[in-house]
Formats: sequence, C-alpha cells, structure tokens
Amino acid sequence: MRVLKDLFDENRKWAEKIKKSDPDFFTKLSKQQNPEYLWIGCSDSRVPATEIVNKMPGEFFVHRNIANVVVHTDLNCLSVIQYAVEVLRIKHIIVCGHYGCGGIKAAMDNREHGLIDNWLRNIKDVYRLHQDRIDALEKEDEKHDLLCELNVVEQVYNICHTTIVQNAWKSGQNLTVHGWIYSIEDGILKDLNVCISNRDEISHVHRMK
Ligand code: CO
Repeated sequence: MRVLKDLFDENRKWAEKIKKSDPDFFTKLSKQQNPEYLWIGCSDSRVPATEIVNKMPGEFFVHRNIANVVVHTDLNCLSVIQYAVEVLRIKHIIVCGHYGCGGIKAAMDNREHGLIDNWLRNIKDVYRLHQDRIDALEKEDEKHDLLCELNVVEQVYNICHTTIVQNAWKSGQNLTVHGWIYSIEDGILKDLNVCISNRDEISHVHRMK
C-alpha cells in the first residue's frame, strides 16, 4: 500500500489540471528551465515561494532555510546562488523574510534551543549590529518585526558581498538583489526598498577590485 496516498492523488489532479490548460506544459518544461528569479526564503510552511506571487513551476529557482539566512560559509546556499547566477543567469535574487518568523523569535528569546542555536547565532549578529534601533522600541512585537526586516536587509548585503555576485556585476551581467517581507496575517508582500544592482552600492570593506 502506498503511504500518503492522498498526496499522490492530489498530485495527479494537479498535473491533469495543468495539462488541460496547456497540454505541452510539462513537455516544454522538461527540456529546460529558464527562471528569471532566485528566491531565498524561510522554510516556514506558510510562506511558499511560487504560490504567493502566483507563479508556475519553472519560474523560480528556490532556496529556503530557517529565517532566510545567507551565510558565507554555507556551501548549500552558496552553491544555489552560484548555479542560479552563473548557469541559469537569473536576473533577480529575492530575499523574502516574513513577520512572525519563529527563527527570529527564537534568536531573541535568550533560551536554549539545541543545535539550532548555532544557526540562530547569525540572526543574533544582526540584532547586535542594530541593537540600539531595536532596543529603542517599547513593544516586543515591534522589536520582532524590526528584526525580521533588518535580517532581510543584512542577507541582501551578504549576497552582494559574495564573489559570485560581484564577479557577475564586474562582467556586466544584469543582476539585482531585492529585500522583501511577507505578512502571514494578510498574505501581502512588502518591498523593503533595498534593491542593489551594482558594486558601488556596497561597503568598501567588502568590495573586490
Ligand atoms: Co520564518
């Protein structure tokens, strides 16, 4: 007996529905992928990448982890970025965080959570970097919301600081890195107005010659 039968049933229905509106959809897609976007988001089940922007399979290259963090020693994330930029030649990298992020909450609560504390250290670094601004707020949920936003902004910079992205810009490749945040309460995306498309916009400390 096949386990999780309901998921296989749903899959059949989904594939049939798509084939009904475009009989060649899967045949075309099987030959190549040509996405314009790399999405780096949180693993949270409530923030599915393609659904919230109403896109089809083939349109987004995706990497998700807890609290949408881009760490310069994370081979997994860096490999995704390298493949997306150098092979797929995507035009936009979107870091999408979300309000109510459990990873951000855990990074703020000073409790022990086990192995994941090592990952959350990256978010604590963002907190420390912006401690004055965050601690100046009175309400806990305001502090949390602000750290959710600032975490996205810092990850945008982390992406721009990689040699992958800097080399792409150096060679004249058209590539923009965006920072967005999603509200799980109303399903609405907000642009955080960090939009970086050349090396002049990053700090000289990280800029390669
Ligand atoms: Co999250």
